[in-house]
Amino acid sequence: MKNNSPMTFTEAQQRHARLVAEIRRHDHAYYVAGQPAIADQDYDKLYRELLDLEQAHPGLTSPDSPSQRVGGALLGGFQSVRHAVPMMSLDNTYSQKELLDFVKRVEKLLPGEPLEWIVEPKVDGLAVSLRYENERFLGGATRGDGAQGDDITANLKTIRSLPLKLPPQPGLAVLEVRGEVFMTRTGFEKLNAERKAAGEETFANPRNSAAGSLKQLDPKIVAQRPLDIVLYALGQVTAEAKPASQREMLDWLKALGFKTPERTWFCRSAEELIAAIQELDQVRAHFNYETDGAVVKLNSFDQQSRIGATSKAPRWAIAYKYAAEQARTKLKAITIQVGRTGALTPVAELEPVFLAGSTIGRATLHNEDYIREKDIRIGDTVVIEKAGEVIPAVVEVVKENRTGGETSFGFPTACPECGSKTAKEVGADESTGAIWRCVNPECPAQVRGRIEHWCSRGAMDIEGGGEVMAAQLVKNQLVRDIADLYDLRLEPLVALERMGEKSAGNFLAGLTASKTRDLWRLIFGLGILHVGAGGAKSLGRHFATLDDILAAGPEQLAAAADIGEVITQSLLTWRNDIRNQKLIERLRAAGLNFQSQLYQPQAAAGPLTGKTFVLTGTLPSLTREAAAAKIEARGGKVSGSVSKKTDYVVAGADAGSKLEKAQKLGVKVIGEAELLQLTGE
Ligand code: IVH
Repeated sequence: MKNNSPMTFTEAQQRHARLVAEIRRHDHAYYVAGQPAIADQDYDKLYRELLDLEQAHPGLTSPDSPSQRVGGALLGGFQSVRHAVPMMSLDNTYSQKELLDFVKRVEKLLPGEPLEWIVEPKVDGLAVSLRYENERFLGGATRGDGAQGDDITANLKTIRSLPLKLPPQPGLAVLEVRGEVFMTRTGFEKLNAERKAAGEETFANPRNSAAGSLKQLDPKIVAQRPLDIVLYALGQVTAEAKPASQREMLDWLKALGFKTPERTWFCRSAEELIAAIQELDQVRAHFNYETDGAVVKLNSFDQQSRIGATSKAPRWAIAYKYAAEQARTKLKAITIQVGRTGALTPVAELEPVFLAGSTIGRATLHNEDYIREKDIRIGDTVVIEKAGEVIPAVVEVVKENRTGGETSFGFPTACPECGSKTAKEVGADESTGAIWRCVNPECPAQVRGRIEHWCSRGAMDIEGGGEVMAAQLVKNQLVRDIADLYDLRLEPLVALERMGEKSAGNFLAGLTASKTRDLWRLIFGLGILHVGAGGAKSLGRHFATLDDILAAGPEQLAAAADIGEVITQSLLTWRNDIRNQKLIERLRAAGLNFQSQLYQPQAAAGPLTGKTFVLTGTLPSLTREAAAAKIEARGGKVSGSVSKKTDYVVAGADAGSKLEKAQKLGVKVIGEAELLQLTGE
């Protein structure tokens, strides 16, 4: 804005259109092309301006505005939708011979015709279909049974590489595009590390984690998951001109702003196909998504349609699956690891075996449900795999090797560390299974884990406070909780096994330095269930001090961005525990910082705090903007639509449907004079 006078609606409309176009361009550059054209801060500024503009002029917000990626509303469940064109699956093969047989079959069906092929990576995610009408994203669904799937529009909209609006395409009325939603490898690892730090169940692999995310009923949670989408097929299309081949189609989709497979191979013979598949196998480890094979497709759409499909799969395509790096070995025992939140994780103790570059002696069994579903027994020969090429996991039992001497594993009802009772807890969200926890907060395994977590780099960042130190401190009963750390003296530390004076001194200096850390680190360090680093930062931005957080009620907590019901409940339970209250007082006495440097004061509180207004019609003297500014200056909120939560509808001349709705819902309707009374003028 050039001056301070409020924009006219037309000016706002023009500015809005420019902002939307610019943000879309940057989203494409960042999320699709992978070449950001602007600094994050500048992007945030544009986005902030868009939000402010839409708040001031609610009429400007359209469903395809970049502000609408997170709908916010919790879904009650998913509607079933029928696919206009069924979503087929692919025939699979694991052998070159079968691939050559496939090529021969196609040659026979198209005698004498030259054949061209496209080889694409087989992305290991979830198939979805997106529908655009008149260039706007209308919605999308999962594959389901191929004929109908679940409407997951709200969740899909959170994927930033998915365009909500396409560039102008004259004559393109309907466009259905199909592809795969996946979680990036880096995103998956980061998410799992965060979940582990927050004491939550981790996901077995990126595919499960993408599937679990899309099934979420809360789009806000989905928006935090690092999902992405790649498109490779069409459904229903009503257009004047359509691409004639897979290759043309991929180019077209790319030009429309979609992300397409990052590498494809064009082949003219079976030999070239084999070479392409081998090359893909070499390079696929560098992709940021998991691939479990290659998809071979006949290039020409005309040839595709002439040879058609069976009831399940097209005759013109096949999936060539790469064998995962697997090994067989004996499961000697199942042990239990107790984490800092008391979560019990079953671990497979294996006869050591060499797999993909290293010797594996242990592998994760995830949780009780996993063991039951796969019917894994002690003494079994099992197949292990390096899921995501990082964490080895038991994926299968070789049942034909059973001798009858195998034994089922019963989850312990007593904690293997401290002997206390264990209890089964239902997963916090529907994407994870049930977790067993040791109920004794003084369990040495939990204490060790809490000390280690408090000292970790992501939390209080205390040098020298790693796994070994935590174990020593707990074993020698120098420390029972994190507050004890601040009473430590040099002599008993130096007396510990393999502890020099220098490292003991460094650790003590690290502890002193930690007293001035920002509040979010302390909150995260406390290890409150479900409160990860992100949640702790949100709290730090919203509240000035730890005391404010501890005094806040559920509604005030939930008002902080990204703090949902699960975190709120967990915080309240934690705070109500007298032991935790004592811990806080001891940390205060030790001189730890309870002030938040991230704190950003909210709009000034005033007589209208907590009240929501909707403005409609023309007021006698105030413009809509002026009325909104008065309400907001006194702590009130102005919303664009009337709901049961609206406190007042301010109606002027020619008020229309909003007034009707207010009357129907029994919302209080006032005029300008009453508004001015409320604002104290
Ligand atoms: S084409 C009519 N191309 O694999 C053929 N599918 O096993 C439609 N997939 O359901 C599928 N990458 O979820 C195709 N480049 C790719 C793919 C791909 C992954 C998945 C897709 C499909 C499954 C079949």
